[in-house]
Amino acid sequence: MAQALRPERNNKRAKCRLPPGPTPLPIIGNILQLGKQPHKSLSKLAEIHGPIMSLKLGQMTTIIVSSVEMAKQVLQTRDHLLSNRSVPHAMTGQNHHEFSLPFMATTPRWRFLRKICNNLLFSGKILDTTQKRRREKMQEFLARIYQSSLTGEAMEIGRSAFMTIVNMLSNSICSLDLVHFNTVNEFKELESDVMEDVGRPNLADYFPVLKLADPLGIKRRVDVHFGKMLKITHGLVKHRLQMRQETTYGADRDMLDGLLRISEENSRQLNDTMIERLLMDLFLAGSDTTTSTLEWAMTELVRNPEAMSKAKAELGNTVGKGNLVEESDMDRLPYLQSVLKESFRLHPVVPFLLPRRADVDVEICGYVIPKGAQVLVNIWAIGRDPSIWDEPNVFRAERFLGSEIDVKGRHFELIPFGAGRRICPGLALAMKMLVLILGSLINSFDWKLEDGMVPEDMDMEDKFGIAMEKAQPLRAVPVSLRN
Ligand code: HEM
Repeated sequence: MAQALRPERNNKRAKCRLPPGPTPLPIIGNILQLGKQPHKSLSKLAEIHGPIMSLKLGQMTTIIVSSVEMAKQVLQTRDHLLSNRSVPHAMTGQNHHEFSLPFMATTPRWRFLRKICNNLLFSGKILDTTQKRRREKMQEFLARIYQSSLTGEAMEIGRSAFMTIVNMLSNSICSLDLVHFNTVNEFKELESDVMEDVGRPNLADYFPVLKLADPLGIKRRVDVHFGKMLKITHGLVKHRLQMRQETTYGADRDMLDGLLRISEENSRQLNDTMIERLLMDLFLAGSDTTTSTLEWAMTELVRNPEAMSKAKAELGNTVGKGNLVEESDMDRLPYLQSVLKESFRLHPVVPFLLPRRADVDVEICGYVIPKGAQVLVNIWAIGRDPSIWDEPNVFRAERFLGSEIDVKGRHFELIPFGAGRRICPGLALAMKMLVLILGSLINSFDWKLEDGMVPEDMDMEDKFGIAMEKAQPLRAVPVSLRN
């Protein structure tokens, strides 16, 4: 049974100790050991200190778990004691921590927000209704790629897909394109900067006394970025409110209408500000994560021509070469699904999940996670653990063929969307978009590297952030399969 150490059992606490870890330096503790790529440095440290480690980051005790068994303890067995978040100081920009679904405590309001997101956006029925709109966005994307293929120039896959992904999301949520050619670059910079800043090690988190000074300026920057994004979502809500005033408007059309209807019926439960904040959260949580995953999967396919051929052959046999892939084709495409799983294993875009916090002292395998400590699950380390995966650094989609491992938070070897109460609610939507986009990209085009570059020369480094991007964008030349 899950154990919180109650006061009357303090004798037990005496027997439990902090997990092992590297010796901290005075004052700064282990901050220097994080380096520029904390997912990698912490994986190395785990090889020395074990699958549950404690580090002192300034004044903040951080527990890092790096094995399947320990991840299961945190996200399943002790989930109810560890499901609140440790909130990065950056998230307090525009006071967003008070509204943010991903970072709020597991209060009734959090439960309510997750419920309305499920009812209005993520349920199977709604996803079926909105798939037509995502299909249209995919067709537009394919038409743009076709135009590029005529010039023979390389495309930046991630950047080009980003516009499609944001607009797939915005069409699923509020039936319009959020970004256009002239605004997409600015929006992308905004999102990437927020993701980098929120994930970046921050002195203000490690030394609470520095919060006001914000020495690295991270909160100030995020404050500006959030301000710009909230202006956009405020505009969306205001415009829709005006439309709803018109007598001819008719029945609710989408999630935004559903949200506004709830707020009209009970503004204490949900008001316009909360809706604007929720829309920002959904765009932020859904677009960079899905884009980076797509870019990594395409990168691995371009780098592994044999896997590309197999994925193409499967699509040719099921969907028909050159045809648009449908979200509903997913179950008929086990190899393509395995390619996505293998990409998630090697390149989990949220490498530590979102940070958890211990509400009370929590015992795990004879160690204590002290009340208030931050808990990180290093799924990057789990994905490359040689005791689980044969040749862990090799991309081999076949390892998932016929395997029961899925990404739904039940198999702790592969949890790119997390697990337990805080599992990503956008999982099904993300998987549908990924199958639709990745499948269509490779079923309609061949992809070549530019300037005679060979797959072995491709740069595979990542750039750490709360959503981890490829450091060097993938550039590839589309070759149309149309006769
Ligand atoms: C490949 C794409 C995606 C990945 C890899 C991903 C991954 C994650 C992860 C790891 C978490 C934290 C889970 C935990 O702490 O255990 C999370 C939370 C969340 N994700 Fe996603 N996500 C993706 C797409 C989406 C999409 C498309 C949406 C919505 C449009 C979304 C909305 C959210 C929200 C709202 C949360 C916070 C849930 C909570 O704290 O209760 N995500 N996601």
